[in-house]
Amino acid sequence: MIVALLNQKGGVGKTTLALHLAGEWARSGARVLLIDADPQASALDWSEQRSHQGIERLFGVVGLARDTLHRETAELARSVDHVVIDGPPRVAGLMRSALLAADLVLIPVQPSPLDGWASAEMLSLLREARIFRPDLAARFVLNRCGPRSIMARETSASLADQDPPLLPAMIGQRVAFAEAMQHGRLAFELEQDSPAAREIGALATHVGEAGQ
Ligand SMILES: Nc1ncnc2c1ncn2[C@@H]1O[C@H](COP(=O)(O)OP(=O)(O)OP(=O)(O)O)[C@@H](O)[C@H]1O
Ligand SMILES: [Mg+2]
Repeated sequence: MIVALLNQKGGVGKTTLALHLAGEWARSGARVLLIDADPQASALDWSEQRSHQGIERLFGVVGLARDTLHRETAELARSVDHVVIDGPPRVAGLMRSALLAADLVLIPVQPSPLDGWASAEMLSLLREARIFRPDLAARFVLNRCGPRSIMARETSASLADQDPPLLPAMIGQRVAFAEAMQHGRLAFELEQDSPAAREIGALATHVGEAGQ
């Protein structure tokens, strides 16, 4: 499966969720490639930090922040089970290319009423891509939810009857995610059975179902 994490809004968790999803699939035995389609190259930085520290390589990370992404991804996907694309904020050309490459688009959003608005441009790019690819699947993923947050409930209520639908797995606001990203690690490597690690396990399961 080729999954792209996309949202034109910056800082919503595209890179965090892309790396964790790739890591979750890799540790269950799948061959995974992560494509860093963001000129800021944060996923590549994470991967370099890992290799400098001699941490085990779970999956390959390549930088492909160019408009030919869709063609190159199809080629690269042949040698692995899953490809995860970490998308850029803002760059529409790259977003279009990622939308042409993907089987499933995940749109991370944070539990704030403003996020619905910020994703409007993302949704119009998705509609445009579906002219060429009517079967392209897409889901919102609610990231950084606080415990019993009213905002999270309101956001999920406002997204419930939308297209794309909301993925049932929600990701909490957890220090483990920020810490892992900073140190070239994944949440399960900091603590095997932490709430963060369990949420990622559930995310991978739901993403697998959504992509079928
Ligand atoms: N669930 C979470 N809990 C705590 N911190 C998080 C969570 N998700 C993301 N973060 C933190 O929020 C910041 C932004 O996340 P991230 O880099 O994944 O977003 P992004 O969408 O890739 O940003 P950009 O658009 O700049 O590429 C990072 O510091 C990350 O560690
Ligand atoms: Mg990013």
